[in-house]
Amino acid sequence: MNKKEFWIETYGCQMNDAESEALKITLKARGWREALTPDSADAVILNTCSVRQTAENRLWGRLGFYKHAKKEREFKLTVIGCMAERLKDKMFSRVPEIDLIAGSFQKTRIADYLEKTFSADPEIKLIGQEEYEFFTRHSNNDFKAFVPIMHGCNNFCTYCIVPYVRGREISRSFKDIYNEIDSLDSGNVKEITLLGQNVNSYTIQAGSRNMDFPALLESVAKRVTNIEWIRFLTSHPKDLSDRVIGIIKDNPVLCNHIHLPVQHGSNKILKLMKRNYTRESYLKLAERIRKNLDNVSLTTDILIGFPGETEEDVKYTMDLIKEAEYEDAFTYYYNPREGTKAYEWGDPVPQDTKIERLNRIIELQRSVTRKKRLNKIGRTMKVLAEKRSKKNKLELLGRTEFDDMVVFPGSADSIGKFINVRIEDISGDTLRGKEL
Ligand code: SAM
Ligand code: SF4
Ligand code: F3S
Repeated sequence: MNKKEFWIETYGCQMNDAESEALKITLKARGWREALTPDSADAVILNTCSVRQTAENRLWGRLGFYKHAKKEREFKLTVIGCMAERLKDKMFSRVPEIDLIAGSFQKTRIADYLEKTFSADPEIKLIGQEEYEFFTRHSNNDFKAFVPIMHGCNNFCTYCIVPYVRGREISRSFKDIYNEIDSLDSGNVKEITLLGQNVNSYTIQAGSRNMDFPALLESVAKRVTNIEWIRFLTSHPKDLSDRVIGIIKDNPVLCNHIHLPVQHGSNKILKLMKRNYTRESYLKLAERIRKNLDNVSLTTDILIGFPGETEEDVKYTMDLIKEAEYEDAFTYYYNPREGTKAYEWGDPVPQDTKIERLNRIIELQRSVTRKKRLNKIGRTMKVLAEKRSKKNKLELLGRTEFDDMVVFPGSADSIGKFINVRIEDISGDTLRGKEL
């Protein structure tokens, strides 16, 4: 077939971002080009997410858009990822114009099947279930790269669809992880993020040795020569060990930023969520992290409006936010997901109550974030310049090791480089500064 143009839209988490990048690399290696807009693409690929209803609603909207576009012009429509995994049948019946669906497990084979959709007899519309295979490379010489180290999740938190759509945990072989990191390290990459739903449960047998996450983290930290920052996502509080904290302390290449989703501050709700820690054990862990790592930043996810949540439970969560003093938080209200344990408990907290509680949490976290960022004024920080500011073309946006966003005057030549910036001010939540 003639090599053509593709367009990929990605929804959901960093795992999807990484896999979409890997798919782009695969397609380009086979002679495809990335289209500048969806209107000129011969193949449109939607990489989907099921974690919240809002994510799925958006996708149905996009499918409606492309269903309509198919009446105007000829192109192939492929849907991949977690929502494709969950709702394949419904998708085909609602949008029969879809040419190919592949769930979470067949992404490395999509390029083959995508090319077949252009033949007179495409043979297949749905790629069947099989073992997950990791792509070999997830970044194309950008200065920042994701490196998946695991796939799936075994935790089955009662609200969460991820274990159902991504399957059980699989750890990637450390040889493959090393290969990918070595090739990034010999390019222009400055920062890598090791990815998994719960990186702390990474485990693999390598000959007679058992590699666990601390062992992997330490060996990667010692291995890189050009990469200056290493991050990892996500840590489950029940599994983040003191060994990991010690390794971060001893290896400056590991960023002093830990994303440690607490979800809730009430022990009753944590138990119903099946998180396997208490607010007390979580706060003790947070304290150990703060004590051991200089200026560490701690960020979290909060899930409000879970079945059974009372005003008292919300108060526990607000108190925990004040005590943990998070640098930042991603906050969500609970969406029931069919197939999960909590789905059986209905959705008893009314929508407007959920939104009102969430707004209170957001406002509180905003004030904590602001207070913490105000303390950074006057400091000089190493910033990785990432892109031009959309608001002002003469300014750049970058991030510190602690994951603070910083805006500063600068030119495009600095993008992808580390710049020392003196923090002078804060506007909204964003630090502002000047290059030293
Ligand atoms: N593995 C990570 C962990 O254990 O923290 C989280 C992964 S999940 C993709 C990202 C976040 O989505 C969760 O931390 C949770 O706050 C939120 N989330 C998961 N299920 C949800 C649901 N049913 N409704 C709303 N938010 C949800
Ligand atoms: Fe979902 Fe819990 Fe697994 Fe995170 S640890 S992906 S919240 S089941
Ligand atoms: Fe969404 Fe799947 Fe990630 S459900 S959050 S894209 S693992």
